[in-house]
Amino acid sequence: MDRETRSAVPSFHVAAGGCVRGEVTVPGDKSISHRAVLLGGIAQGTTEVEGFLESEDCLATLNAMRAMGVNVERPAPGRVVIDGAGLRGLKAPAQALDMGNAGTAMRLSMGLLAGQAFDSTLVGDESLSKRPMERAAAPLRQMGARIDTTAGHPPVTLHGGARLSGIDYQLTVASAQVKSAILLAGLYADGVTTVREPAVTRDHTERMLRAFGVPVTSAGGVISLAGGAELKASYLHVPGDVSSAAFFLVAGALAAEGSFLVRDVGMNPTRTGAIEILRLMGADLRVVNPRLAGDEPVADVEVRASRLKGITVPPSLVPLAIDEFPVLFVAAACAEGTTVVTGAEELRVKESDRIQAMAQGLHALGIQAEPLPDGLRIHGGTLGGGTVRSHGDHRVAMAFAIAALKATRPVLIEDVANVATSFPGFAAIARQAGIAIEERR
Ligand code: S3P
Repeated sequence: MDRETRSAVPSFHVAAGGCVRGEVTVPGDKSISHRAVLLGGIAQGTTEVEGFLESEDCLATLNAMRAMGVNVERPAPGRVVIDGAGLRGLKAPAQALDMGNAGTAMRLSMGLLAGQAFDSTLVGDESLSKRPMERAAAPLRQMGARIDTTAGHPPVTLHGGARLSGIDYQLTVASAQVKSAILLAGLYADGVTTVREPAVTRDHTERMLRAFGVPVTSAGGVISLAGGAELKASYLHVPGDVSSAAFFLVAGALAAEGSFLVRDVGMNPTRTGAIEILRLMGADLRVVNPRLAGDEPVADVEVRASRLKGITVPPSLVPLAIDEFPVLFVAAACAEGTTVVTGAEELRVKESDRIQAMAQGLHALGIQAEPLPDGLRIHGGTLGGGTVRSHGDHRVAMAFAIAALKATRPVLIEDVANVATSFPGFAAIARQAGIAIEERR
């Protein structure tokens, strides 16, 4: 990297200590926003979305749908209006579809594109280009799709004109992205498509397909749909992302002055593992004002400063909190005693190897953390300060910004540009909560 490139890469500078107070509202859910544009794009009629997450990841999905001929308007912040092309109305994109950093965009699009009449190629950034795609390609091939990965990674090429048939597929990893890819391909397949999950994973695809009028059955981890159903346009309200809220829930548990409120948080039970884990650690969290936003449960969460203790995280909660581990590891570093997470090998194939990235960053701040093949053992202690690498991973960057609340010296987090992939405006919301954070180039 030359000097100019380096100085253009932003970093977070966070003062040590302080507290959080008042209330914050986090932006819309990333998983739901991706699905809203994908399903809206193949529905019949006009779908209106409110609370859409205008992050780089979700805009990659939106731009991919535009590149396939779907008219998508953005009349106001968070509002998206999609003129659905119908199940068979997508058009061949003129060039490769760039999914940026977004695993969800790529894997769900593989499912959507497997049964199209045209060829397509999906590419991604440096991080996405290292992530495993065979987990989605293999079941889609069993359905009849013709897909090439690049030694298991992107670029991924899908050959058009394949005739798909429904399959009954046992997932080998608990992955909502793979489940969703198969269900989306199932819309284009002859007969019934069934997916069996080894553990509960987020069910936004199933809920949203029902909102678009597609009958989806789901019981005991077995999800089925029949091919050929037309989707009918819908109105969708995207709740606040519980994965973004988690940073502020941990901030509150570490350093709330009085009661700190995070508003409009998605409370889908397949996503609330972090809340349960924090409670097991002794966090004083209260879910208030529960309500429904369309098909998704929403609530406000009130949190008070709490004395956290180390725990062994129940493996059943791992898939329900998979994206929240970076900040949960920070909570563990500030807890009394040892926290052990196992059964979380998926963390090694996220936007970075999050086991390695978090262990390194915690070491840099003076915390003992031993990487395990499938998790991390963290010994709670006193956080010093210093420089931490984000490894280009948005959630690692934000987690260490929260850690500064309990540090004895300032924390500098390098390379935070990717925060915009999931949480644009993070630093401003953190400042509003009372965290002394500055983004510098
Ligand atoms: C997602 C599923 C999870 C999660 C990702 C979003 C989704 O990935 O980590 O951030 O929207 O379906 P896996 O399906 O790989 O577990």
